[in-house]
Amino acid sequence: MRRTILVLTLLLPSMAFASGGVELLSANNDIADKASLQVGAKLLVNYCMGCHSAKYVRFERIGKDLGLNDEELNTNLMFSAEKVGETMTIAMDKDDAEKWFGVTPPDLSVIARARGTDWLYTYLLTFYLDDSRPWGVNNLVFKDVGMPHVLWERQGWQKLVHSTDEQGHEKTKLVLVNEADKAKAEQYKQEMRDLVNFLEYIGEPAKLERHNLGWKVIVFLFIFLGFAYALKKEYWRDIH
Ligand code: HEC
Repeated sequence: MRRTILVLTLLLPSMAFASGGVELLSANNDIADKASLQVGAKLLVNYCMGCHSAKYVRFERIGKDLGLNDEELNTNLMFSAEKVGETMTIAMDKDDAEKWFGVTPPDLSVIARARGTDWLYTYLLTFYLDDSRPWGVNNLVFKDVGMPHVLWERQGWQKLVHSTDEQGHEKTKLVLVNEADKAKAEQYKQEMRDLVNFLEYIGEPAKLERHNLGWKVIVFLFIFLGFAYALKKEYWRDIH
């Protein structure tokens, strides 16, 4: 039993970062780039928050960090929230989401920390047509993904092409279905860099909350240590 647990703990981190043998593309983003963060914020609000929340993130905070005043926040980013003090929650009901997608779309507040920016970037770039899937798409780094390719209009459709090289190795690559989408697809890469950039940035405010919790845990452990020590003394008193 103990060995199983040990093996599981060893496996977990590698599973979390496994990308199915696909080489990850480099996101190459820069969280100090405010213009990029602003584009990313807009994309997230317009294309992702129909399904995903970012409930640890306050609009007010974004405004302050990205240099947007309340009015700009209101017109550009806040469609479902009323006040700048609110967090990026969504109206979709958990049970409904489960019914529609089979899974609840996860909160995106700390997704960049969980998956890494390169994984996210690759994920957003590698949706491809697959008739066998409910939404008609699959993903190179998230096999049989339950999310539709919500950004297909900005990228154009891609398909998976199999080929064999001279050494007989099987290779797969993604190509655009429609060559005319080439310029759009290039632009899409930049947009995804901005979106991933914003996702990395919003991971930061949540860090504060984790630190806050960390302190409480340490204080608890110290108090517990005091009790444990007192108990130990009590036990050993009769033996000495
Ligand atoms: C129509 C609903 C919908 C929209 C819109 C949507 N998603 Fe998703 N997303 C999902 C669902 C459902 C899943 C869970 C997929 C699964 O587990 O198979 C998911 C999963 C993900 C994951 C993987 C999470 C993990 O497990 O690590 C990421 C990252 C993600 N979405 C990002 C985005 C981003 C960024 C956008 C905006 C461009 C977006 N999503 C828009 C429904 C949606």
